[in-house]
This record gives sequence, C-alpha cells and structure tokens, in this order.
Amino acid sequence: MTELGHGANRSSRIAGFHRKSPQERLDLVAAFAGLDQGTVDHLANMGNLSPQLADKMIENVIGTMNIPIGIATNMRVDGEDVLVPMATEESSVVAAVCNAARQNYATGFTTSVSGTLMIAQVQAVDVADPHAARLRLLDKRDEIKGICDACDPLLVKLGGGFRDLEVRLLETLGGTMVVTHLIVDTRDAMGANAVNTMAEKIAPHIATWTGGRVFLRILSNLADKRVARAHTVWKLDDIGGASVRDGIISAYQFAEADPYRAATHNKGIMNGISAVILATGNDTRAVEAGAHAYAARSGRYTSLTRYEINKDGDLSASIELPLAVGLIGGATKIHPTAQACLKVLGVTTAERLARVIAAVGLAQNFSALKALATVGIQSGHMALHAQNIAIMAGAVGDEVDTVARVLVERKTVRIDVAQEVLAKLRG
Ligand code: MEV
Repeated sequence: MTELGHGANRSSRIAGFHRKSPQERLDLVAAFAGLDQGTVDHLANMGNLSPQLADKMIENVIGTMNIPIGIATNMRVDGEDVLVPMATEESSVVAAVCNAARQNYATGFTTSVSGTLMIAQVQAVDVADPHAARLRLLDKRDEIKGICDACDPLLVKLGGGFRDLEVRLLETLGGTMVVTHLIVDTRDAMGANAVNTMAEKIAPHIATWTGGRVFLRILSNLADKRVARAHTVWKLDDIGGASVRDGIISAYQFAEADPYRAATHNKGIMNGISAVILATGNDTRAVEAGAHAYAARSGRYTSLTRYEINKDGDLSASIELPLAVGLIGGATKIHPTAQACLKVLGVTTAERLARVIAAVGLAQNFSALKALATVGIQSGHMALHAQNIAIMAGAVGDEVDTVARVLVERKTVRIDVAQEVLAKLRG
C-alpha cells in the first residue's frame, strides 16, 4: 500500500494495473482511496467465488459483490413443481412470487416459447442500389447459410445453426441502410457469441454483394423470435373476491394505456425476471433491453402482461416477452453459484428455463398489482425494509427482529428511530 498515497497527487493512471493480481490491485486501490484495513479485508474476501475465477471473468478484479439468493416456493410450471432461486438485493421480491404462486398453486402456470432463434444484424451503408442489393443478398441465402454454419459446426450438430435471412431497407439520417438479419437457432446457448461470430464472418461478403461499406455486425437484443409466454388463472375465491380482481384489471388497464405507469409495472415484472436471470448467470441487461424494446414494439410503450376476466369470472393473466437465456457459455457455465442454482431449478434446456422465468415474471406482477390495488405495497415492504434499517442502525442477532418489529408497530421505519430503539434495548 505504498505505491500511491491518499492525497492531492493521487492518479487514476496506473500502468499495468490489469497485469497485477487481485490482491495487488486491491492494495493500490486501498492506497488511492485511503481504505482502512477492515474495508480492505472485506473486499479481499471473495466468498464462494474463487479469486482466480473472478479474475478470469472480468478485468481489473479486486473483489466480488454478494447478493442474497432466495427461493420462490409454490411454483408449478406446466404441471411440474419447481423451486426457483432468485438473486436480488430488493426485499419483498421473493415473497411476492411465493404469495402469487400460493394463490394459483392448483392451476399453476402454462407456458410456451416461440423457439430459440436469435437475430444478428449486419449494417451496410453507401449502397448505390439498395433495392437491388436486397434482392442480391436474398439470392445468396444458401451461400450465407453455408458460411454461417461453418462458423459453429458443434451448434449445427446439436440441431442449431442458420435458419433464415431477412434484408431490411432502413431510412436513416445517413440515407438508406441495407440491414441484413441472420436468424440463427442457438439452442441451449444464449447465443451472443455464436451469432456475433457469424455476423463478423459474413460482413465482408455483404460488403461485396451490396457494393457498400459494412460497419456494425452484432446481435439484436430485441430477440422477438425467442419469446416466452406464460398463462394462468387466479380464481376469484383464492385472491379475495371480485373487488381485488377488478382492482388488478384496472391496474393493468392503467399500465396498458400509460407509459409512465407501464415503466413501473414492467420494472416490477423485471424484479422477478432479472433475479432468476442473475441467479443463473445469464445476462440481465440483454433480457431487460429485450423486454423493454418488446414492450414498445407497437410504437407506444405498454404493459408486458395482460389481464382479463374469463367466462367463470376468474382472473386470466398472461405475459409474453423475449427471453434470451442459455445454459451453456458465459457465467452460466463457469460460475459455481449459477451452476448450483440451475441444479435447484432442475432445468436441462434453455427453453425450460425461459418458460419458468416467464411464469416468475407473471407471478411477480400479479402480487405487485394486487398489493397496489388493495393495501398498497408499503406495509409488506416496510416489514422487510425495517429489518434492513435495524441492521443499518447496528442491530445484530435477535436485536434485528426486535428493533424491526418496533419500527413497524410505530409505523416509522427510520434509522434515527431504529438507533433510539436499539439504545433502549441495550439499556
Ligand atoms: C417495486 O420495485 C416494483 C413495483 O413498483 C411494481 C409496480 O408498481 O407494479 C411495486
């Protein structure tokens, strides 16, 4: 901790930082930021992810970030019971899924997927004859298929590979662009690496065939050929009657009509979805980007879920969104916690994982809407939030529950109150 002093002349220009070990980097950071030994020791403890592995996963590693994994119980998806690991820092998220699924356990969730197709885009600009270029590219379909499939023989062996070609003419600020979509079945992989490799391989050919210049070659996160759907019915008697049902329907109608509300409504859905995505080592940002882009596909951002009253007067609910998730590759394969979570889930295909995740999103949304349309979310939230505040105030062991209980009883979940209660408790 001597190379850099915590002072006026500290510099973020650290030569060879990436070549150092996590511990060496941590020492440099500690000197830069003036960290005390307790903070350094805390960061050096990487928990159940080995420093060697963490150091291989991203660049410039100095530590890890632990997020609790909770288990959603009561979930029944396509007739099969499943325990769902959820990694989240937000209280009430796991409880929301458990509660929703308890209220439809007899029915469970029915799910489907549209397939495991990913899209890669190749952008060609300065094409003299875009319409004719489009036809030239479509004529090359077989050649393009051959080049793409040769990139990943293993994927082809597993039943995946190039499936189709779309060529779009896009009017942009920079003129007409010829945008080629490679549609690839990536099976149990999320598929980013597979399709990006294909896009890069095919790009010079596209430049030649269009006579233009090719710039971007990258997957689209609007994975609308990889959507997952879930449906269920919450029976009137199980959810508290017609006024609860009508409140949920009205909450949905609000989100359907208003992007300000839809953003929050869909954020709640993603509370559940991203937690499973993270627990399984999948790419939370890819799925979130896809979900929100899908919610705006009509040109107006709207709800990812739908609620209706069925012929029996019960609450019929559905969700549909792109879910580009995989079981092989990336953190899913190498992170031991992700592997453990997949074992808990018992999924053996990316398709089954997507189905379960869609059901979790719907369950999450039901609970949020039910709470919002009835008692509000603060009462449920506050019970767990109070525990966090108690810990922040310094409570340990049994003190946490005791202090939290007093905060909730007093309906004032504040750190100063928690400190006062804790001081009294300790005499
Ligand atoms: C909070 O994280 C999520 C909610 O705001 C979702 C919603 O409003 O539907 C409760």
